[in-house]
Amino acid sequence: MKGNNDQYTTITACSICRSRTLHKFLSLGPIPLANSFLREDQLSAPEPHYPLDVCFCSTCGLVQLAHVVDPEILFKDYAYLTSTSKPMEAHFAKLAEDIIWRFNVPPGSLVVDIGSNDGTLLHSFQKYDMKTLGIEPAANVAKLAVSRGIETRNDFFDERLARRLCAERGQAKVISATNVFAHVADLEGFTRGVTHLLAEDGIFAIEVPYLVDMLKRLEFDTIYHEHLRYFAVQPLVTLFSRLGMGIVEVQHIGVHGGSIRVYVQKSPCSLSSRKAELLKLEAEAKLGSLKTYQKFAEEVGGMKESLLSLLKSLKAQGAIIAGYGATAKGNTLLNYCNIGTDILDYISDTTPFKQGRYTPGMHIPVFPESHFHESPPDYALLLAWNYAGKILQKEVVYRQAGGRFILPLPKPQLV
Ligand code: TYD
Repeated sequence: MKGNNDQYTTITACSICRSRTLHKFLSLGPIPLANSFLREDQLSAPEPHYPLDVCFCSTCGLVQLAHVVDPEILFKDYAYLTSTSKPMEAHFAKLAEDIIWRFNVPPGSLVVDIGSNDGTLLHSFQKYDMKTLGIEPAANVAKLAVSRGIETRNDFFDERLARRLCAERGQAKVISATNVFAHVADLEGFTRGVTHLLAEDGIFAIEVPYLVDMLKRLEFDTIYHEHLRYFAVQPLVTLFSRLGMGIVEVQHIGVHGGSIRVYVQKSPCSLSSRKAELLKLEAEAKLGSLKTYQKFAEEVGGMKESLLSLLKSLKAQGAIIAGYGATAKGNTLLNYCNIGTDILDYISDTTPFKQGRYTPGMHIPVFPESHFHESPPDYALLLAWNYAGKILQKEVVYRQAGGRFILPLPKPQLV
């Protein structure tokens, strides 16, 4: 099934500026989809693998995947639930508060969340008496949101749906898309849909992982098929200004290994000091140069070698090693580094859906956290490194008893 190309398309032009000046700088695949955890009865069936190549557009600076897997395959049945992550629940509660406070959104306003998952963000908006509507393509997740009292449309957001919603519900004061903007195949059509549905004085809030952080901290494992693009502010400025929109404010935030929260309005606007600061940071990080990405690719190769050498030497000493957090990014790391059950006995994870399943590609069993506490390994490879602070605190008993965490990035480190 490797390279089964009726299930993906290879891009020929940049998804923001349409230029053909695309330069491939990193290849992490072919590997299976990062969230396609397997049941035991699926282990012997052939597993689809897809290329995972990353390229840089030297015209507008956008970093993007060279191949786009069919969204029906990626998002129709989804393993990730926002509400299983306490830190993300708290994060979304603060986001709702920030939007309402900053833009003075009156009670009764319509808030539409695109890629609303299980409704965690909209639930926070409901506490401020907002009317809410979720758009969620994954049927299993949309159903769950509805059962939690969050009205949710099980569909992909595009221009057609935007026009229909606008006719049915009127324009929205707030449209949010957190960790969605990087996932959308037709970025321009999606954004045009937002301009139809958004009120003239409305605000469009997006959150995306920040390319500067990914490069600086070597977070290459955040690259997987769902994430079609790796954003910096500059390409977003290009995109929104082409559609007559303007970035009101940008915040650099800590989630998902470093992200940006971008507030966009329907009309152009002047440069804020924070936006200017980030653009300066991007220029200093030389985001406009192909060499920056070639160096990143070299460092990723070096990291693979050092992680494997550490894990193999620990195994040679008879150590038991488990993974901590069956993350999607963990599956990029495990597949790219070829870390299987010869190294990791299991991975512990708090998500009921993942427990009892096996990781895509490397087929490592996923166990509940209770297993980790009952039979603690000598070392825990922290695949959920985005929660490192919280997890190291939470697992103080394990650590006091001599257990050690391996933080894989940017350089493997024992703590
Ligand atoms: P997430 O941060 O969404 O990463 P990705 O987008 O790469 O999948 O996933 C975090 C995963 O880690 C999720 O499956 C829950 C798990 N987890 C634990 O098992 N224990 C913990 O203490 C935390 C914070 C997360």
